[in-house]
Amino acid sequence: MKQLIVANWKMNPQNAGEAQNIFNFTYKSSDKLKKGVEIIICPPFVYIPLFSKKITAGAGIKKNLNIKLGAQNCFFESKGAFTGEISPSMLRNLNCEYVILGHSERRNIFSETNDLINKKIKFALKSGLNIIFCVGENLRDEEFNYFNFIKNQIEEGLKDVAARELNHMVIAYEPVWAISSNKDAKAMENENDLNTIAVFIRKTLFNMFKTKKIFEIPIIYGGSVNKDNFKSFLNIHDLSGFLIGGASVKAEEIKKIFGGIL
Ligand code: PGA
Repeated sequence: MKQLIVANWKMNPQNAGEAQNIFNFTYKSSDKLKKGVEIIICPPFVYIPLFSKKITAGAGIKKNLNIKLGAQNCFFESKGAFTGEISPSMLRNLNCEYVILGHSERRNIFSETNDLINKKIKFALKSGLNIIFCVGENLRDEEFNYFNFIKNQIEEGLKDVAARELNHMVIAYEPVWAISSNKDAKAMENENDLNTIAVFIRKTLFNMFKTKKIFEIPIIYGGSVNKDNFKSFLNIHDLSGFLIGGASVKAEEIKKIFGGIL
């Protein structure tokens, strides 16, 4: 299975010049990556048009260009009176191939429910986008209720998604307590814990979809991944890469991370 590195820039940086620098830097560094590693850059909406031409032009020059564009959110209609929203078709028209949905910041700050996320996922899939579907518990409780919490996010988030659409799905496991912007956040580096969660997610998917296709869904990890710890998330049996937030807009971090997975 191919390895994915998702760069979620969140609401950074502050201006187009800086955005261009980060993009160019990431684009250049991605040249060194081995085949089978794909980078998905997810900038704020306003910067997407700056990069979409470069992505298409690059694809014309380099076969198997391993860098793609993604968005951090989208709406569940293609057009109309939805002030402030961006539709999947607008993103497709700018060469975006992916969209992050269900991120914990959208859930917790913008009150996005599993039901709303489900609507977005179904519509984005119909519109031809690949989904990076984020799940993850807010807390780890000693009674292991967090397993049910994740199961519920998956079951409600993917309700009525057709099995044939599963090859457009990536699951990002992002425990909220590990996300760098949260107080005392610490990456979940324990290999056993990561494997347990990945197996649990796959089992939940299997119970839902009853098809071997679920074994092809990449599961990636997100939460405080940086230049000092990214190696702990490589070669984990059931993981196919990672999502980087804060570190993805820092040149030094990108250089070390990409350099380390040559
Ligand atoms: P982080 O963010 O890498 O800064 O912890 C990950 C995420 O929230 O997607």
